[in-house]
Parts: sequence; structure tokens; C-alpha cells
Amino acid sequence: MTVRDTADRDRRASPPTDFARVLITGASGLLGKALVRAARTHNLFVYGQIHRRRPPAREHTEWLGAEFDGATGVARFLSDHAARLASCRYLINCYGPLTQRDTRAVTPDDLVREFHHNVVVPVSLTRFLLRNAPLVSVVFIGFETVGEDKGYHEVLPYAVAKNALLTITRSFAADLAPVRFNMVSPVTLEGADVPRRGGRRVPPERVAETVLTVLLGKESGTHHRMAGGIEDGS
Ligand SMILES: NC(=O)c1ccc[n+]([C@@H]2O[C@H](COP(=O)([O-])OP(=O)(O)OC[C@H]3O[C@@H](n4cnc5c(N)ncnc54)[C@H](OP(=O)(O)O)[C@@H]3O)[C@@H](O)[C@H]2O)c1
Repeated sequence: MTVRDTADRDRRASPPTDFARVLITGASGLLGKALVRAARTHNLFVYGQIHRRRPPAREHTEWLGAEFDGATGVARFLSDHAARLASCRYLINCYGPLTQRDTRAVTPDDLVREFHHNVVVPVSLTRFLLRNAPLVSVVFIGFETVGEDKGYHEVLPYAVAKNALLTITRSFAADLAPVRFNMVSPVTLEGADVPRRGGRRVPPERVAETVLTVLLGKESGTHHRMAGGIEDGS
């Protein structure tokens, strides 16, 4: 099947009118793929943001290409897909790249890049949906120790950015009700290509189910920490 055939088939996957629509960023990644499958079981039509990998066409799903590198990347994504995004009731911001580097070697560019990808991108998407879409609920993805007062030896820029996103989550929840904002923070995912000594891992499917439960629930301003088998909402 050619790329064009795939694109045509995706276009034909128009959303049924009785399915609410969700934008899932990072939809072709490890957790993203599990989120797309889980959203389907909750009768959501998925707009799945992808980058280099185009997953196979699937029912009730449309893949939206994006390049979030650089200042113009998000703006282009929003303008290219404005009409589709304007129909979304839900946002799951799964996109959140991690660059590992010894804290002593971190440069200003490292901080700016990680802040862009983990804060500017999700906040820009959220602001667009708040202005243009019937948005009711947003889930951001954190990581294992976000919200803890600790030093970071290998992931400082990522940790700073994810902690900023947690603060923004709580602030948006307080200021923008009735739109709901929550964060789900898993330990390392099973199958992740992340060097880690020991520690528990959690299956992406379990994280995805928690994200969907939080997304479609009633609470706002909460931080759900998933500690690989133990789940602790706080
Ligand atoms: N992995 C873990 O163990 C772990 C643990 C705790 C928290 N988290 C968090 O969970 C979330 C998902 O992590 P993951 O490991 O599942 O991610 P992942 O597998 O690395 O997936 C990355 C996603 O981002 C897309 N992407 C990459 N570069 C891009 C760019 N320049 N512009 C636009 N899109 C781009 C990829 O698209 P293509 O595939 O099309 O290139 C893919 O969909 C993140 O927020 C992460 O911080 C992960």
C-alpha cells in the first residue's frame, strides 16, 4: 500500500457523530499506542499525532503528522489541522521527550529544548483547544518522581519541565473550571528503551487505562502517581 493510499484510507475514517473526539499526542510511541487502543474501547474517535512512524490505518482513528521541533512546529500543526482539532472534547498530551545528560554538563540550550517540548508544546495545544474547541478534559503525562523535592543527576532539564507542567496542571484546574486538568505520572514503562538500574516498571496498557479513567472522570487538579503495581492518587 502506498503512502497516498494510506492517507486516503485515513481520510475516509471520518468520525461518527456520536463519538466524542480526543487528540492524543505522541500517538505512535510506546504509551501513545496503548492510549489509542484504550480510547477506542471508551468509544472515542482519536486524532493521533505522529511524527516519523505512520501506524496502520485503524477504525475511528485519524493520524495527524507534526514536527514539534522549533518555534514554528506547533503553529504549523495547529493551522494544518485546525478544523479537526476544533472538534476535540479531550486532550491527552502524551508527547514528552527525554534527553539524558549528566547534570554537570547541562547547557542553556538543553534547558530551552526540554522546556519547549515538555511545556510549550502541551500548553500551546491546550490554549488552542480552550479557544477553539469544546474542550472538557485534559490529561498531561508526568514521570516517576515529578512533584518530589529531589536532585536530578541525569534528567534535570526534563524534570524541571515536567515539574513546571505539574504546576500548570494545578493552576489550570483551579482557574479554568469546568474544564478539568489532571496529570498521570508512571514509573518506567515496560518495553521502554531507558537504561535503568532496578526499579519497577508498569505496562503501558495499565497506564493508558488509568489515563482514560482520569480523562473521563469527574476530578480535576489531581496528580495520579503510578508506581508499578501500586497506584496512589493524591
Ligand atoms: N518511556 C518511559 O518509561 C516513561 C516513563 C515515565 C513517563 N514517560 C512519559 O510518557 C510519555 C510517553 O513516553 P513514550 O516513552 O511512550 O514515548 P516514545 O515511545 O518515545 O514516543 C515518542 C512520540 O513522540 C513522537 N515524536 C518524536 N519526535 C517528535 C517531534 N520532533 N515532533 C512531533 N512528534 C515527535 C513520536 O512520533 P514517531 O514515532 O512518529 O516518530 C512518538 O509518537 C512521555 O510524556 C514521557 O515523558 C515515559
